[in-house]
Amino acid sequence: MAHRIAAIPGDGIGNEVVPAGLTVMAAAARRFGFDLSWESFDYGADRYLRDGTTLPDADLAHLSEHFDCILLGAVGDPRVPGMEHARDIVLGTRTRLDLYVNLRPIKLIHESLCPLKGKGPRDVDFVVFRENTEGMYAGAGGFLAKGTPGEVAIQESINTRRGVERIVRAAFLWARAHDLGRVCMSDKHNALRYEGDLWYRTFREVARDFPEIEARHLYVDVLTMEMVRAPEQFRVVVTNNLFGDIVTDLGAQIQGGIGLAASANVNPETRRAMFEPVHGSAPDIAGTGRANPLATVLTVAMMLEHLGEGRAAREVEAAVSAAIAEGATTPDLGGSLTTDGVARWLCQWLERPETLR
Ligand SMILES: NC(=O)c1ccc[n+]([C@@H]2O[C@H](COP(=O)([O-])OP(=O)(O)OC[C@H]3O[C@@H](n4cnc5c(N)ncnc54)[C@H](O)[C@@H]3O)[C@@H](O)[C@H]2O)c1
Repeated sequence: MAHRIAAIPGDGIGNEVVPAGLTVMAAAARRFGFDLSWESFDYGADRYLRDGTTLPDADLAHLSEHFDCILLGAVGDPRVPGMEHARDIVLGTRTRLDLYVNLRPIKLIHESLCPLKGKGPRDVDFVVFRENTEGMYAGAGGFLAKGTPGEVAIQESINTRRGVERIVRAAFLWARAHDLGRVCMSDKHNALRYEGDLWYRTFREVARDFPEIEARHLYVDVLTMEMVRAPEQFRVVVTNNLFGDIVTDLGAQIQGGIGLAASANVNPETRRAMFEPVHGSAPDIAGTGRANPLATVLTVAMMLEHLGEGRAAREVEAAVSAAIAEGATTPDLGGSLTTDGVARWLCQWLERPETLR
């Protein structure tokens, strides 16, 4: 049966990196002999400005019923300063499909890209499980006396036992399935007494179900320092929505920058999933051919893994590593190829008989 992908390129460079990623995915399908089909959908700023459509419930239901997963490029356009279409498409998909795991690999693909002295690919190789539907990003709060000198803004952090337990359990299950041996939960329970208490208690309780896995706790400020000082100590990190957002961007830098950071939004029970490169729509370089497609290609590798095509996923990663080693990259990584040029190079690498192993 063919794997069916719903592609939403979105805005700006999303329209360049998503076709590049799909081209590489098609090359992997030819190489490993699986069927693949995709359909593109035009949700994004142009559509929103034309007819007011963001991503209606019925459309999202169609995507989730008729496709195995969604590949999103990026959304964000200076013509929509309020970002309402982006909120609906990205945050809306995460919450309406209950994609509670934001999975962010922090994996250094090639040593030339690491800004940390003396660290290589063996030192920077862990995953972050960021809670994706609750916390400070749940949208709870309000204003009092808005616009007056006495204005008060309240932003509340929502943490449910169910929400915390399922993300913590997902992290342990991943560690067990991938034989990773340790999970580190990061919070700030010394200062955030209520949500911290729930996270810490839940973590300790869930850890008892995984006696073979080392369960460690670090305050998030300590985590950021340790990620820079000694990233090799981490295998799986689990944390809340806000802290996860921040520490994964730190992670993106130690793995080589925003042009290489991939992510998945997954519900492990329903298997629904939306995959997206971490970067935004980069309006400053949109249409110039300078967009680095490697984050999207690595995102495609995650999608292949999710679809049960693990060998193809690893080979796509190997192709990315080879491209970096050979300097077959866009200018942000020091190369001189265009977005399409990098995609073509990767396809040729994947299809070359001498790379067959
Ligand atoms: N998930 C998403 O869809 C998402 C994420 C972040 C930002 N955004 C939106 O994207 C728009 C631009 O945001 P921003 O400028 O803060 O972040 P950005 O990630 O789009 O760009 C930041 C800088 O990195 C560069 N860059 C980003 N991706 C690149 C790539 N693949 N290749 C080469 N260079 C790349 C850009 O040229 C820019 O200089 C905004 O509307 C923002 O809200 C969307």
